[in-house]
Amino acid sequence: MGAQGYRVIYGSRDPGRDAVRELVQRSGPNASAVSQPEAASQAPVVVLAVPGEVVVEVAGTLGDLGGKVVIDVSGGEKRVAPDGYQELTSDLARAEVIQARHPTMRVVRINLPNIVYFMDPLLTKTRATVFVAGNDPKARETVANILFDLGVDPWDAGPVRFARLFDAFNTLASIPAQQRRAEGYQVVMMPTVPFSCFFDTVQFFGYGEPAELKQLPKFPRREPAPTCEEWMRRLPPMAPPPQ
Ligand SMILES: NC(=O)c1ccc[n+]([C@@H]2O[C@H](COP(=O)([O-])OP(=O)(O)OC[C@H]3O[C@@H](n4cnc5c(N)ncnc54)[C@H](OP(=O)(O)O)[C@@H]3O)[C@@H](O)[C@H]2O)c1
Repeated sequence: MGAQGYRVIYGSRDPGRDAVRELVQRSGPNASAVSQPEAASQAPVVVLAVPGEVVVEVAGTLGDLGGKVVIDVSGGEKRVAPDGYQELTSDLARAEVIQARHPTMRVVRINLPNIVYFMDPLLTKTRATVFVAGNDPKARETVANILFDLGVDPWDAGPVRFARLFDAFNTLASIPAQQRRAEGYQVVMMPTVPFSCFFDTVQFFGYGEPAELKQLPKFPRREPAPTCEEWMRRLPPMAPPPQ
């Protein structure tokens, strides 16, 4: 993040140790390291980059984070089933627990790909999609802009409860590695053809209308989105589905 011009303040339980000092040196001229609560008090955006097992506990030790954007990057709980694959454990995501315990924090959960995709976002030729979920639309927007600057593509995943889907998705995404497959797979997300260009999806699919619709976050894009006119040219006339 230092390379992208962000001021980075590492929070460490031992900010003076050699490994932390080296990390600060590698992170550009604006980087520093202090205790975890001190770092959190200085920053408007706090990344809880600690092991998942302790992230809920650590969030409660950082002082008053009211109004700050607090990012949970941890994966879900891991539990191995009798067949060797993982259990689906995501009936509650850690980010939801943090948000429930600290209602004034603006908790955002992101589904980080492996750190190598930040070192080289075009490693596999396509940028990784990173889901961004949180109850505060402006907080999601802030995080989306940071992710965009870091070279990955943010995807607006709505309120924080959708973090449970990330946990399930991570479990799914770990299967090729568990099977020790050498070949890589790429999940191409369901392309979201804007049905709204053609008919009122809320009415026809019975989705419900998001309460935040008037404050939808603006997520950055690398290329402008095709317009409705362009979609109408590309696609045959689309009838609403039968009810
Ligand atoms: N690495 C990846 O590619 C990757 C990808 C996706 C998601 N993630 C997620 O990112 C988070 C961090 O990953 P990581 O690989 O950087 O983890 P890590 O190296 O195991 O831990 C990061 C730091 O957390 C601090 N820490 C450890 N235990 C702590 C405790 N009990 N209380 C307070 N601080 C503690 C330590 O810093 P100090 O000793 O300096 O305090 C440690 O250096 C994890 O939740 C992981 O699931 C990582």
